Amino acid sequence: MFYERLPLSAEPNPDILTPTVLRRADIGESYWDDNLDAIPDHLSYKDLVAGYIMKIHEYERGGYGLLLAGPFGTGKTALGSIILKEALMRRARCFTVRCAVMVDRLWSKNRQELPNGAPFEEGLTNVNFLFIDDFEVYDSKPKNNAVEQIIYARYARRLPTIIATNLKWEDVFDLPYLKSLLKDRYWPCPVTGINWRDNPPVSPNR
Ligand SMILES: Nc1ncnc2c1ncn2[C@@H]1O[C@H](COP(=O)(O)OP(=O)(O)O)[C@@H](O)[C@H]1O
Ligand SMILES: [Mg+2]
Repeated sequence: MFYERLPLSAEPNPDILTPTVLRRADIGESYWDDNLDAIPDHLSYKDLVAGYIMKIHEYERGGYGLLLAGPFGTGKTALGSIILKEALMRRARCFTVRCAVMVDRLWSKNRQELPNGAPFEEGLTNVNFLFIDDFEVYDSKPKNNAVEQIIYARYARRLPTIIATNLKWEDVFDLPYLKSLLKDRYWPCPVTGINWRDNPPVSPNR
């Protein structure tokens, strides 16, 4: 089975990051080579993410996640992928899913397996690290409940969830369930300061 929580190994082993392993975690191919080095040092989220990685064993055991919030193109998906790669190198089981895809599949009771061979819901709720990308708030209560169900199941088992969103903080904290979970076991990580989609990427403070 490819989805049960595994004890993390003490040291990262880069040889683990084969295309097969990266695909099973559903990390987009364009993010495979991204790393923290390319981020200018004055951007404070760089230290925050580096600190999370430094203590990844502790945070994994305690179920501490990260909330990466910032505008389009600031590198949130890259950061989530970087964290997952660090976890994979330590033998963790990891999975990335876009929020809309997750909701659609839960909604349509689509029982198709995840790329790592796990049954959809069990896979999302059991892996060491889940990265929910493009987190959204829906008009429909049942859709929000579907997201809550996954996030809460992981919270209850002390499994970390990394969340990335274009939403503003106020809107994220508008969701009562997320507000209480976030207060407790998430690091808020505002991601701003560079737009990677500009060519070349532009950092306003340099
Ligand atoms: N640290 C990084 N190193 C190299 N490329 C990066 C880095 N962060 C982002 N990028 C690149 O910039 C582009 C936009 O980043 P992305 O993570 O998709 O932004 P967001 O998810 O915030 O919209 C992507 O092509 C990504 O590969
Ligand atoms: Mg993104």
